[in-house]
Amino acid sequence: MAQTASDSTIDALLKEGRTFPPSPEFTAQANVRDDSLWREADADPEAFWARQAEKYLSFSRPWDTILEWNLPFARWFVGGTLNASYQCLDRHVDAGHGDKVAYLWEGEPGDTRSITYAELLEQVCRFANALRGLGVKRGDRVGIYMGMVPELPVAMLACARIGAAHSVVFGGFSADAVADRMNDSGSVCLITQDEAWRRGTTVPLKRNVDEALTKTETITQVVVVRRTGNDVPMTEGRDHWYHDLVSAQEPTCEPEAMDSEDLLFTLYTSGTTAKPKGIKHTTAGYLLQTMYTHDLVFDIHPDTVFWCAADIGWVTGHSYIVYGPLGNGVTSVMYEGTPDFPDKDRWWATIEKYGVTVLYCAPTAIRTFMKWGREYPDKHDLSSLRMLGTVGEPINPEAWIWYREMIGGGRIPVVDTWWQTETGGIMIAPLPGVTTLKPGSATRPLPGIGASVVDEQGNDVPLGGGGYVVLTRPWPGMLRGIWGDDERYKETYWKKYGDRYFAGDGARIDDEGYFWFMGRVDDVMNVSGHRISTTEVESALVDHPKVAEAAVTAKADPQTGQAVAAFVTLRSGYEESTELAVELREHVGKLIGAIAKPKWITFTPELPKTRSGKIMRRLLRDISENRNLGDTTTLADANVVKELQTRAAAEADKEQ
Ligand code: PRX
Repeated sequence: MAQTASDSTIDALLKEGRTFPPSPEFTAQANVRDDSLWREADADPEAFWARQAEKYLSFSRPWDTILEWNLPFARWFVGGTLNASYQCLDRHVDAGHGDKVAYLWEGEPGDTRSITYAELLEQVCRFANALRGLGVKRGDRVGIYMGMVPELPVAMLACARIGAAHSVVFGGFSADAVADRMNDSGSVCLITQDEAWRRGTTVPLKRNVDEALTKTETITQVVVVRRTGNDVPMTEGRDHWYHDLVSAQEPTCEPEAMDSEDLLFTLYTSGTTAKPKGIKHTTAGYLLQTMYTHDLVFDIHPDTVFWCAADIGWVTGHSYIVYGPLGNGVTSVMYEGTPDFPDKDRWWATIEKYGVTVLYCAPTAIRTFMKWGREYPDKHDLSSLRMLGTVGEPINPEAWIWYREMIGGGRIPVVDTWWQTETGGIMIAPLPGVTTLKPGSATRPLPGIGASVVDEQGNDVPLGGGGYVVLTRPWPGMLRGIWGDDERYKETYWKKYGDRYFAGDGARIDDEGYFWFMGRVDDVMNVSGHRISTTEVESALVDHPKVAEAAVTAKADPQTGQAVAAFVTLRSGYEESTELAVELREHVGKLIGAIAKPKWITFTPELPKTRSGKIMRRLLRDISENRNLGDTTTLADANVVKELQTRAAAEADKEQ
């Protein structure tokens, strides 16, 4: 691969010599204490997964075949039947754990709810009955567009109970993004709430839904959870208050016996085109992947209080707030709001209040906490913590060490976990009782997972080398494709290497086989641990009537990892101005969501293009990151570049 700034970071990382072996005390109590699982899995991966399925899953009918692998389409535990909500709820209640707390929920304004497994089961049954009453059937898709309230996991599990697939849209996305996803998935019902709390103000979710529904045709029913209590318009015959619906329902509901391979959910993620991909996950394999990884990577015990501080609108929340922890019968903290409300110590106060033992969050959050300073965690007793985790983007050693020292008191493991929406669960990560940690490395593939780093031709790079990350064998939680688009599935993940899954990430592998992730190798940016497609933002910009052309690249950002840098050419007759830049940002926010708004917008009379008319994105990346430009001889007009460099530097100097 080409030498880039991130390469030199990785070179520095590889020289990062600090190692942290597990403490003897940790290992002594850990679920996994030696490397036998890796050996067992490597000897016969399918038999290994079959044993894990027996350990973790309750089938109502046993499977006949462990794996049918018609490359690139996998079917796991073929012939088995089960139900995800039964797996997550009834099983624990039947085993006498109905009084165990499933969620310790903390509302942003300070209100709290503690919900046991028995209570969660009852709520799920009531809502499942209500959905059936609205005509939702097995095999339907149901949209969910909510904030972090307990009714969100209730809604997901209620869908699973009646065999409908959910399609959750992150509450920070715009009305247009909701409409696109509902149309693509053909959802028949949309579950939302009046408004969400965010940093003391309200997010108008129901109003966004009303706007989205002017652009969708399949949705006939809307269910609205009351959260803030403010007035929202309700459309007679279409909109129903959640609380009215559920109070009229029976507290029990027979779970549908779903096939192992029945769709559990779709979740949309950005790729290299403007159209997000509806990633498909099915029932048995996904549940196994999330439960197995949750149990092993976070060293789960009966008294674990687990806090995954992600939003359920992303895959991290699906897997490690909902299915993994509930499948394992664990108590989770669920927090509704932002880390700085009412003050910058909210997370640390929450850990102290609930005695959280495992915290799982994104490096971007850690860097923000570093900036705010240690006085905020120092105000609180964090001694309940037994381990820490990170996910979503590469973590720089400085942040890793800060996290371990300031939050973990220098005494507990920090696991950096690599995975994707497509993988369903964690793929490359330490097992904390066994693996020696290196700050900045996700370490090695988990038992059962095959991964390597290969060159352009698909050959494994030698230890110490860098290249593309591939997954070398099917795994139970792997995506089953892209909703409605098998061709795109093959093209995106399988075309490059044929028999191995192309993850789209670059990594180095060190002399001990540890993976050091370097970020995406395609046109996908990683902003605060979330994937945004450059093309999607470009399309949103060009959608604005004053924009003729736009090119978008990722630029390194100390807080968010990467931020969006846009280069925009206006249609003739329009003047560039600060106001117009604000307008364009808002436009992107309206079409996609606030997370995709460009941090920097550089206006330019022309974009650098090759003689054949292709925009030279590499050059734009180098310009926005202020790097030496190297060879520009293929440019049609070399003067464009000089002007751009000056303008981009001026833009970068502005405090956004
Ligand atoms: O580039 C990798 C990065 O996030 C991408 C997956 O994004 P998404 O599907 O939104 O899921 C995020 C949460 C699982 C990957 O292709 N990524 C994720 N975890 C790490 C990471 N990069 C480096 N280190 C990680 N631990």
